Amino acid sequence: MKLPLLSVKDLKKYYVEPPSSITEYFRREKRIVKAVDGVDLTVDREQTYGLVGESGSGKSTLGRTVIKLEEPTSGEIIFSGRDITDLNEKEMKPIRRHMQIVFQNPYSSLNPRKKIRDIILDPLRIHGFEVDEETLKELLIEVGLDPEYAHRYPHQLSGGERQRVAIARAMAFKPEFVVADEVTSSLDVSVQAQIIKLLKKLQEEFRISYLFISHDLSVVLSISDRVGVMYRGKIVEEGSIDAISESPLHPYTNILISSIPSPGREWKPIIPEEKMHEGEGCRFYSRCPMAREICLASEPELIKIAEDHVVRCFLYE
Ligand SMILES: Nc1ncnc2c1ncn2[C@@H]1O[C@H](COP(=O)(O)OP(=O)(O)OP(=O)(O)O)[C@@H](O)[C@H]1O
Ligand SMILES: [Mg+2]
Repeated sequence: MKLPLLSVKDLKKYYVEPPSSITEYFRREKRIVKAVDGVDLTVDREQTYGLVGESGSGKSTLGRTVIKLEEPTSGEIIFSGRDITDLNEKEMKPIRRHMQIVFQNPYSSLNPRKKIRDIILDPLRIHGFEVDEETLKELLIEVGLDPEYAHRYPHQLSGGERQRVAIARAMAFKPEFVVADEVTSSLDVSVQAQIIKLLKKLQEEFRISYLFISHDLSVVLSISDRVGVMYRGKIVEEGSIDAISESPLHPYTNILISSIPSPGREWKPIIPEEKMHEGEGCRFYSRCPMAREICLASEPELIKIAEDHVVRCFLYE
């Protein structure tokens, strides 16, 4: 059996929330945000793991933590057979080039005062790589940009072109693993499709694995091999692309699916945010249309439904 490129076990990332008022400041107990609350995840080589969930569910925190841009609170991260959980910044340096991240906003993630060539080359130089003009040119062509763009500034480019620059900057390292965090979210639908196409092409050519993060299930379904549905810090359902698109099980996944507008399917809005259920039991309780008494007793475990399909819900016990 082939070893996965990335394997994460019971990963937790908790933040201490800064006090929002003076009374809170003087109160003793600190508020803990459990952004990632015990996630298991494997990303196979040359595959795309799509992570979907609404805003605040912990997707970006998970993405940043698996590549050690954030220190995990607990858990285990194995990358390419090596335990990187406790490696410090210096020990991470030779591994960093193999794990890149592309962010949502191509406006704020590119330095407006730098030319495109320096935006791409500076991170490489920091890592001690020298890249000649010819390689830079090839890289720009690879991501679908005119090599002349090397001499332009970000404000001279469209949103989609800037996102191509951000992708080129990550790809310049020839990474094995790329976290793509909402990379299409700020773009028009037609441009989104072009960026997805580009990511797939690069994946084939350079044999990359992606952790593809989006709040938009339809985008996730268009690129992923496996999908994990995240809700308030936990994976509530995971499966192959076929399992998730053809037989979604968790009530939350079903809400996400029914909110994808499509001809022939009635559009149903996501259930509005109510007072969240805190404490014992299922974290989806207060929004779940199928909630029963048992759901308050304890947090459901992940239940295996099929070879490639797990769900965290008492409906399937
Ligand atoms: N540095 C931080 N300090 C404190 N809390 C944080 C920090 N980063 C994230 N959080 C909190 O962790 C939770 C998860 O945030 P995260 O950004 O990972 O969610 P997300 O799923 O990426 O959301 P979005 O779709 O809006 O990008 C949120 O409640 C957020 O406020
Ligand atoms: Mg995010």
